[in-house]
Amino acid sequence: MRNKKVLIGVTGGIAAYKICNLVRLFVKAGAEVKVIMTPAATRIVSPLTLSVLSKNEVIINMFPNGDNWEAAEKVEHSTWHINLGAWADVFIIAPATANSIAKIEAGICDNFLLSTVLAARCPVILSPTMDVDMYRNKITQRNISSLKSKGFIIINPVEGELASGLYGEGKMPEPEELFDFTKNFLLKKKDLKGKKILITAGPTRENIDPVRFISNYSSGKMGYAIAEEANSRGADVILISGPVNIKASDGIHLIKVNTALEMFEAVKSNMKSIDLAVMSAAVSDYRPKIKLKNKLKKEASIINLELEKNPDILEYLGKSKQGYFLIGFALETNNEEEYAGEKLIRKNADMIVLNNPNTEGAGFNTETNVVTLITKEKIERYGIMHKAEVAKIIIEKYLEMKNKKR
Ligand code: C5P
Repeated sequence: MRNKKVLIGVTGGIAAYKICNLVRLFVKAGAEVKVIMTPAATRIVSPLTLSVLSKNEVIINMFPNGDNWEAAEKVEHSTWHINLGAWADVFIIAPATANSIAKIEAGICDNFLLSTVLAARCPVILSPTMDVDMYRNKITQRNISSLKSKGFIIINPVEGELASGLYGEGKMPEPEELFDFTKNFLLKKKDLKGKKILITAGPTRENIDPVRFISNYSSGKMGYAIAEEANSRGADVILISGPVNIKASDGIHLIKVNTALEMFEAVKSNMKSIDLAVMSAAVSDYRPKIKLKNKLKKEASIINLELEKNPDILEYLGKSKQGYFLIGFALETNNEEEYAGEKLIRKNADMIVLNNPNTEGAGFNTETNVVTLITKEKIERYGIMHKAEVAKIIIEKYLEMKNKKR
């Protein structure tokens, strides 16, 4: 992390004592580190310790030597919050208490740390850390959501034993995790800047009657992971998603749909000037031919449900391909590679990501996946990986192929 300037803000949560370690990790990695503390934080961890570890003066007050203006050696000292806000490449506030979060959200700057937040030109990362009830409180949640929507980056607290003795969410992740997150954020390549990417994710629901539907077990995790990866690398991402329980980052343009026909319409309206389409949704192949207006009564012992075929969105994009790169998914349980290879040709895709739901750690509703990337040139088999890692190799493969084509 040489040449990287990291500003660490420490507010008055018990976890402040762990920040000594965070400072050490950044310094060890070669970053230049400066620390700002709120007055409350100095009751928990000594500014002297953080000063020695960061090799820089720790700033707490707006004015040097308390309120003694006579002692101000330099006029600039009173504008340090502006200077520091412009100096840093990243500003991480950990722990970020409910109080400081609320003040940041309101634009209050009654201490040096808060003033620096308002003056910051760099990304600001917050690690909300507090008691479980304070964290779950609607006011805190509203403040966190509001800050997220304004571009603040939130590291979600983890579940565990809290200083209060209670158990739950609100614990600050360990310094190693805060360090990794910040490092990845800082060093992340923005190699998809200017690219428009269309992604489908999740299942579709095909209505039988007002209360019943046909669907599948897709969780949407794979598609959302690709959307997050592309978004963090600077792409303009449109995510068309069936019903799932995942939140997408604010930078992603999310379009929620239910049925395959709605997904198809949303794809058609958003495919203009895209660079890449990734069809990871588990689209229902069929829908009930007749959608009943009223709930189906359980009278007959056997009922017949007539189904009709849904449009194949991937195939449609393959047929209308104009300058974009097309990635499809294949979920096969037998003769996997053969079927997936055939799908690549039939749907005119540039790559098929094959996964077999019967393989341990692969398929629907898991955090991990086991994939094989199939292109016209080669077949690449990977071992078990977290879906975020799979997303990364898919994006990297796309970039590799696109660069070769040039
Ligand atoms: O032909 P099959 O359904 O196995 O192909 C799977 C791939 O096709 C996935 O990429 C899926 O998102 C896409 N697909 C689609 N529309 C459908 C069915 C599948 O886009 N109606």
